[in-house]
Amino acid sequence: LAAAGAALDRLTRVQADFPIPGVLFRDLTPVLADRDALAALAHALAGAQPDIDLVAGLESRGFLLAAAVAMVLDTGVLAVRKPGKLPGDILSEEYALEYGSARLEIHPHDVPDRARVLVVDDVLATGGTAGAACRLVRRAGGIPAGVAVAVELTAFPGRRALGDVPVLALRSWA
Ligand code: PRP
Ligand code: HPA
Repeated sequence: LAAAGAALDRLTRVQADFPIPGVLFRDLTPVLADRDALAALAHALAGAQPDIDLVAGLESRGFLLAAAVAMVLDTGVLAVRKPGKLPGDILSEEYALEYGSARLEIHPHDVPDRARVLVVDDVLATGGTAGAACRLVRRAGGIPAGVAVAVELTAFPGRRALGDVPVLALRSWA
């Protein structure tokens, strides 16, 4: 956990006015591109997560971390996708973003009944994205057992938006 936090401190790029003016954007791509940092992140996010059956990865940047966490936990990955990407039977949930509003979709049949699902993403801000993912998991018959993110932005009420789902954040930044 200490190694992952240190890697986030050292390698995260902070970009002003991205993707729109007024947003201070934490870019974790340099963390993901570093072999040791990625391994430290995957192990830290997977640690202390009891009885996880499935890891949910949130498009797009959450996909990158979720697959790594799933390898550590020896589970599969649930693809939580932006609209219009999944064929066939889907569930859809709308949510509000720091910048705009959006929708996420899953294949409900990819969630086994009562499966304990760990929702993984790079950044937790308003909690809109992770909250929508938790609702999708519930509607599909699973249990959102936790939300695990690399970075939590404490200027936003992300944890509050997630109700009683436990949140693990490796770093909390204002
Ligand atoms: C970012 C980030 C989280 C979300 C956090 O994704 O990767 O998924 O925003 O914000 P929230 O807690 O306020 O919902 P974005 O929607 O920019 O998509 P991307 O990963 O495809 O760039
Ligand atoms: N970085 C990455 N994703 C985000 C951010 C950020 O600063 N804010 C909302 N989603």
